[in-house]
Amino acid sequence: MSLEGRELILGVTGSIAAYKAVYLLRELGRLGASVTVCLSEHAREFVGPLTFRTLSGRSVLSNLFDPQSADAVEHVALAERCHAIVVAPATANLLAKAAHGIADDFLTTLLLAARAPVLMVPAMDGGMWEHPAVAANVATLRGRGVTVLEPDTGALASGQSGKGRFPEVDDIVEALRRVLAPIRDLAGDRLLVTAGPTREPIDPVRYISNRSSGKMGYGLAVAALRRGAQVTLISGPTALTPPPSAVFVPVQTAEEMREAVLHHLDRATIVIKAAAVADYRVLQVSSVKIKGKRDLTLELTPNPDILAEIAARRTNTFVVGFAAETHDVAANARAKLETKGIDLLVANDVSQAGIGFDAEDNEVLLLDRWGGARALPRMPKAAVADAILSHVLGLRAGAATRKTPA
Ligand code: CTP
Repeated sequence: MSLEGRELILGVTGSIAAYKAVYLLRELGRLGASVTVCLSEHAREFVGPLTFRTLSGRSVLSNLFDPQSADAVEHVALAERCHAIVVAPATANLLAKAAHGIADDFLTTLLLAARAPVLMVPAMDGGMWEHPAVAANVATLRGRGVTVLEPDTGALASGQSGKGRFPEVDDIVEALRRVLAPIRDLAGDRLLVTAGPTREPIDPVRYISNRSSGKMGYGLAVAALRRGAQVTLISGPTALTPPPSAVFVPVQTAEEMREAVLHHLDRATIVIKAAAVADYRVLQVSSVKIKGKRDLTLELTPNPDILAEIAARRTNTFVVGFAAETHDVAANARAKLETKGIDLLVANDVSQAGIGFDAEDNEVLLLDRWGGARALPRMPKAAVADAILSHVLGLRAGAATRKTPA
């Protein structure tokens, strides 16, 4: 695919990898794109604007507040005109500013003004990429639909080796193509996604819950929307912001979740139950705060199994469940798939650090009712979400011709 007729903004920020943006710019130009380069102040320390101006054939933007510059008022028009913004390299500082909506120079202001899709290409020292602050900012941006590439692993400018290298130009161009022409393979589908934990009250101030963050479910909702689906997101309490174009139904308890799910079930073509539903609720919820300093016995009663109920009631809906396991993952998950009577089960080992509950990454096993099993390698939840959706579409397409076990 050529990039002929594409109007792009290439933002360059102050990383040692800034010189590699020159090669990226040359390739974008070779593919026919018209590119306006926007340099952060620190990027200018690494590569001068003349190089970018010569290769792009346009003046280079950098200082929003330069009174001499007519560009100062241009950013809104430019943001409206462009088909995509690529920030390459994107420093940890730029990711932080973008995640928090800070607009203190031309590039960050453009990022706020633009409605075009954004591709971030991070490059930084390995330790920085792993830092929880950077990981949280990346997760925020991905949650908003920004595509953030994973850096390559290898030798870094610091002399160390690790994850943080600027990816190959061809990989960036490939990602840009996907950003420019997103796959709309879920257009016409209506997804019902549940996410997060449920909270089962004990008294007015206390509850039973679990460590689910909702990231996997929200990631699925964002990915499905990008791929053209209509999405209803039914979520227990989380710290996440729901994607603006989803129908959002906040719930607290498993019973509320059940009601909301059954209410929306008929419209759904695909149901994905990523929520970690509390298995039990307190039989007698106290209407007043229970006083401490004495033994307390709570009588618990099982919550309804929403997933099994959906599977029993559905007509043509494709039903996906999740399994949180701590041991014998494959065997437990296979048994769960069968007892619940669903089409696909996404199993993850929640005993492993760094994946599963409240983590940025996941490493899952996909088991389907036709006997298929596929292990996905560890990757960010946004990428796991896309892989699950592709798998669902593949299974559904093959379902008509496949033999269903008796
Ligand atoms: N689930 C549900 N309703 C429940 C419990 C679980 O809909 N009351 C769904 C979850 O959303 C998930 C799947 O069932 O998609 C499996 O959840 P999990 O907690 O792994 O399994 P449980 O059914 O609770 O079984 P167990 O706790 O015995 O492993």
